[in-house]
Amino acid sequence: MKINIIYWSGTGNTASMATLISEGAAEIGADVQLINVSLDDISDALNANIIALGCPSMGSEILEEDEFEPFICSIESSLKGKKIALFGSYGWGDGQWMRDWSDRMEKAGAIIVSPALIVNSAPGDDSEQLCRQLGVDLAKIK
Ligand SMILES: Cc1cc2nc3c(=O)[nH]c(=O)nc-3n(C[C@H](O)[C@H](O)[C@H](O)COP(=O)(O)O)c2cc1C
Repeated sequence: MKINIIYWSGTGNTASMATLISEGAAEIGADVQLINVSLDDISDALNANIIALGCPSMGSEILEEDEFEPFICSIESSLKGKKIALFGSYGWGDGQWMRDWSDRMEKAGAIIVSPALIVNSAPGDDSEQLCRQLGVDLAKIK
């Protein structure tokens, strides 16, 4: 089982979620690759059984515009039938960015395999556990 966890993070909260998800998946033997869209090569990003995509709520309830939004645009036409999961951190909102993002990914034909995981600010003890569990759950998907 190969899982690519592809994320953008400005202040590290979504990055922490990505790391925890990867730890959960790796614990049960998945081959996990963490890809930071700001730093890493994204050319092979979709080469995995499951793609976990992470981005915080930015702008006004939108994806980060300079790096992550262009990345999503670049893969959108290749998402048909792809198994994906979405996650990200937020601040003062109610999660609207994630509802919009989930709808967009479904319209692109992606199969969302797990409920979107959103965490307020940095993951605390409870949400750390939820992130790890998401990794475990993704690694168990056939
Ligand atoms: C420019 C900017 C815009 C933001 N817009 C929103 C927003 O619309 N709704 C919200 O809930 N949080 C918003 N936030 C808060 C971030 O989503 C929150 O701080 C999150 O934890 C950042 O995650 P990161 O550490 O992965 O960058 C915004 C933060 C910044 C810097």
